[in-house]
Amino acid sequence: VDIEGTGSSSKVIARLPSGESVEVLLFGATVTSWKSNGGTTENLWLSEKAALDGSKAVRGGIPVVFPVFGPPPKSGHVTSSLPQHGFARTSRWEFLGKSAAEDAAGSNSVKLDFGLSSSELTEEARKAWPLDFALVYSVTLSKESLMTVVNVRNEGQQSFEFQFLLHTYLRIQDISKVAINGLLGVAYTDKVLNATEHKQSDSSVKITGEVDRVYASIPQDTTSVVEDGKPRFDVVRDNLKDTVVWNPWIEKAKAMGDFAPDEDYKHMVCVEVGAVNGWQTLDKGDVFEGGQTIKSLL
Ligand code: BG6
Repeated sequence: VDIEGTGSSSKVIARLPSGESVEVLLFGATVTSWKSNGGTTENLWLSEKAALDGSKAVRGGIPVVFPVFGPPPKSGHVTSSLPQHGFARTSRWEFLGKSAAEDAAGSNSVKLDFGLSSSELTEEARKAWPLDFALVYSVTLSKESLMTVVNVRNEGQQSFEFQFLLHTYLRIQDISKVAINGLLGVAYTDKVLNATEHKQSDSSVKITGEVDRVYASIPQDTTSVVEDGKPRFDVVRDNLKDTVVWNPWIEKAKAMGDFAPDEDYKHMVCVEVGAVNGWQTLDKGDVFEGGQTIKSLL
């Protein structure tokens, strides 16, 4: 494990003896690269114009969304003063250390732990969310998978409500050949169509225009990304019931100053597991744990 850079640009890089690697920026505990196949296949999309100096949330990789997904309720909620997607993706996390493990098949894996608690927030974030909490985020690199799990602890004297989501930007070759499976029969909110409610009636989601959908209470554990008829990724939910599917398409991609190149909407799709349908309530002293395992199937 190497630590590179200083201040807000610091990142932790871990490599397996077989060549696979992961890079995590301390800013946001954002995973910015995950390479499998001996280190030859990059699995995550990262914008060429992503800010990697702590000046804004990273456009790409796996930003951590907490304690609110999307714009918060306009008033009257504990998250109402927060920016879109909360503060976790724009806070500097602490690197807590690494541990090595061997899986059943005798393959190595390495786990990196990151922490963020109320006392480490900027004054601005602390003001907007004056609650006592501690987050531990664990990123485990194995030969063919990446597991990212968050642990939220309520360290205050009252219960609080939150949402959580892993805003994963998957790298793909060609969006026109992608199908997303495992959502059949699931109800979703279509944010492109004025937040209207629908039910997934095709077994595959195909992306031929802007897509921004919140699939809720999914009974299946796995959402699969198939490219050109071949399995590409399995995204396995752990204690998280919802998944957002997002692709900005042509106009929105162009309109985002940090999305580059413009044409790269063809090379990414966000499959974002989370708990975003309503709120999770966490009583004082309680812990919530949820995350994902992404398998690269190339
Ligand atoms: C997705 C939301 O999760 O994130 C979209 O569903 C949003 O509505 C997208 O546009 C990107 O958000 P941001 O804040 O990173 O530009």
